[in-house]
Amino acid sequence: MTPPNGTSSLAVDEKSAATPPRKSGRGALLFFRRWLAHPLRMGSIIPSSAALCARVVRQAWPKDGEVVLELGSGTGVVARALLAAGLPPDRLVVVEIEPDMVEMLRETLPGVTVIQGDAREAARLLPARFQGRIGSVICGIPLVLLPVPEQRRFIDAMNAVAPGRGFIHFSYCVTSPLPYKKHQLVAKREEWTPLNFPPASVWRYTPSA
Ligand SMILES: C[S@@+](CC[C@H](N)C(=O)[O-])C[C@H]1O[C@@H](n2cnc3c(N)ncnc32)[C@H](O)[C@@H]1O
Repeated sequence: MTPPNGTSSLAVDEKSAATPPRKSGRGALLFFRRWLAHPLRMGSIIPSSAALCARVVRQAWPKDGEVVLELGSGTGVVARALLAAGLPPDRLVVVEIEPDMVEMLRETLPGVTVIQGDAREAARLLPARFQGRIGSVICGIPLVLLPVPEQRRFIDAMNAVAPGRGFIHFSYCVTSPLPYKKHQLVAKREEWTPLNFPPASVWRYTPSA
């Protein structure tokens, strides 16, 4: 599998990711309704743009045979971008806490493993067949809005499912959304795009030595 790294690949990815997903109007409406109900848990009123998804895909692309785990999949825009870039559905696992979003993910992402639950329980929720196979973790959950001990619980969960790998996290913050030194992490802002509302960055966090 060719990683979507080069400029031309990115253009292709953005085009694919921009392809309206099935029932996209329903997705946007659902997203907005869930934001009204849980603004802090959602962290955004609309799903991520194609431009942001393409950057997440580039940063999270796994090695051959490895599985991608996405936490906080929402209406599935990042998942669809991964599939459009060539990730086989049986190498993608998504976790989402909102039951009606899970229902939509199950309808629209055939072959993908969709788990309903709290990402902090990822180690318990992950089916045995995926254990030891997670190559990259994408976190779309707005960690910046959480107190430090709660952030820690997410980070511990990600470390439990993909020890030593770290994770990709996208955020609208100008500076690191996580106090990374407190969490013994190294932070790198890999990408930024103004083509998202609001403009967003893609961060890579890895455990410090
Ligand atoms: C900012 S939205 C991102 C959605 C999608 N990834 C995107 O880019 O459009 C955050 C998502 O995380 C989900 N979420 C929040 N807390 C969660 C948790 N503890 N476990 C699983 N999902 C959670 C929300 O329901 C929401 O769908």
